[in-house]
Amino acid sequence: MEKLQAAIESARRKRAGRPEAAGVPAQTPGHPAAPVPAVAAAGNLAAEAPGQGDGASLQERWAALNPVTVDHARLGQQRVLSLSASAASAPFDVLRTKILYQMQQKGWRRLAITSPLPKCGKTTTACNLALGLSRQPELRSILFDFDLRSPAVAPMLGIAEPQPIVSLLTGQRDFAQHAHRIGPNLALALSGRAEPDPTQVLMATSTRDTLAQVQESYQPDVMIFDLPSILIGDDARAFLQHVDCALIVARADQTRYGEFDSCEREVGEYTNVLGVVLNGYRHGGGIDAQDSGA
Ligand SMILES: Nc1ncnc2c1ncn2[C@@H]1O[C@H](COP(=O)(O)OP(=O)(O)O)[C@@H](O)[C@H]1O
Ligand SMILES: [Mg+2]
Repeated sequence: MEKLQAAIESARRKRAGRPEAAGVPAQTPGHPAAPVPAVAAAGNLAAEAPGQGDGASLQERWAALNPVTVDHARLGQQRVLSLSASAASAPFDVLRTKILYQMQQKGWRRLAITSPLPKCGKTTTACNLALGLSRQPELRSILFDFDLRSPAVAPMLGIAEPQPIVSLLTGQRDFAQHAHRIGPNLALALSGRAEPDPTQVLMATSTRDTLAQVQESYQPDVMIFDLPSILIGDDARAFLQHVDCALIVARADQTRYGEFDSCEREVGEYTNVLGVVLNGYRHGGGIDAQDSGA
């Protein structure tokens, strides 16, 4: 693992001239790597954009989303630790704060989460970030489950039987019907079934239009997209052009440096690489029993 972290950091230093690389340094949930910058508070929870046409206020649109409650103990079993502030949530809180700082500095709203290969911790990271953001009362966030071949946000959060997200993305159902809401300011666009042709869905004009419409109507400060892995198909690549930036999750005990490097290069061709999460890394020791699958 230490080799992977050293290799990532050395490659990133070499590429330091490339503006899109290395916004957030390699980050290890469990052990924050760098000081936390102050958060620039740029939330818009009280604001209403002009020209919202459906008559309801922004607050009313958010309040009308289907509320769900999540179970702390169950989330803990899934390594989703950010619903409330604690020592366990601290590494994800640091990550959230760094990401927010970078995105607000640049005026970015759309963040993709991807990885070289499956099982690196994308969905775990996405859920922790989203719940951490929900604790920022001045911000609104939306988490989209865009891993259409293998949607996993709903089971990770313990939310039963969501409708297929394709019905939202093709305009058959609107966001108000489809979305769930945790607390006042975190919305979820979940998916309840695997799609046979995700690339086609992710590239469709209707998907692009739906996202623009949701962004305009609900004015989220942050939209998180839990994407598929880069090296196993075209799905993630097809969508990266629609986000402002991406976070790459590597698994310290599994990801090879070559896989990470290919992934970072590919992502960098389509969007800004905001940073890297080195999941499962333990400073000064081995991988713990959970990491090793024991
Ligand atoms: N740091 C970690 N240590 C041990 N297990 C982890 C860690 N991070 C994630 N997992 C587990 O690994 C599995 C895959 O994680 P997931 O977030 O679904 O990955 P991905 O979305 O990249 O496929 C899940 O069962 C998750 O609970
Ligand atoms: Mg996943």
